Amino acid sequence: MLKRLIEARWVQSLVARYDLSILERLMLARHDFTARHKLRRVFGRGADPYQYASSCYELTRFSRMAALLGGRRFRSALEVGCAEGHFTKTLAALCGRVTALDLSEAALGRARRLVRQPHVTWVQANVRTWQPEESYDLMVMAEVLYYLPPPSKGPAYEKAFMLFLERLLARLAPGGLLLLAHGYGTAADLAVREDYGQRAAGLGLRRLASERIGEQPHDKGMLYCLLELFEKPGA
Ligand SMILES: C[S@@+](CC[C@H](N)C(=O)[O-])C[C@H]1O[C@@H](n2cnc3c(N)ncnc32)[C@H](O)[C@@H]1O
Repeated sequence: MLKRLIEARWVQSLVARYDLSILERLMLARHDFTARHKLRRVFGRGADPYQYASSCYELTRFSRMAALLGGRRFRSALEVGCAEGHFTKTLAALCGRVTALDLSEAALGRARRLVRQPHVTWVQANVRTWQPEESYDLMVMAEVLYYLPPPSKGPAYEKAFMLFLERLLARLAPGGLLLLAHGYGTAADLAVREDYGQRAAGLGLRRLASERIGEQPHDKGMLYCLLELFEKPGA
């Protein structure tokens, strides 16, 4: 039975696509370690390090993200990289259940205090390796994908990124929505943001809307944002 499973064509093709060598795993683990260290430093500086409560860019971005959801209601949502819960609060009002996931324990501690709602479940995990156990009819990934090992950096990174994306999007229910929102300051950054959406489309999601927020002052200079809404066909 086990032998038959191992020899099955679909198992073989999965292994060929996704099995990472020890060296590749070490490279990815190093990237995760560096990202974790950076985030510990950022959230260790004190509450609201990204100025979500006051930055013109962030407030505009959150309001456009909410507008793109168009007042729809959702059974169950997943927010990847919820940070201190500023957008989780909006999601909690629109969704029957929210799973809000972040790598940073410090950020999650503040998020729990900001959004005291019993239908929000907080998860501390690295989304790159996290295994979702249920399906969601909304997924939100905002200002988070560029923290993951960049797929352009080499075949191991490419494989790991697609493994993460496929694993996650497999848990988006038919008819479910994916909202992406990532800021950029340069044309090169915009190309990376567009690439996220192209990968989602390549995995069969249908683009419902795409918009850009124009120049907004930010402490790192001028920032723009690409927001995209996708639907998984098959409802
Ligand atoms: C810039 S904040 C974005 C917060 C929020 N999504 C927003 O729209 O403003 C990025 C968040 O992603 C989290 N993050 C980064 N890499 C992650 C990973 N691999 N797994 C889970 N969370 C991660 C960070 O801890 C941080 O809270």
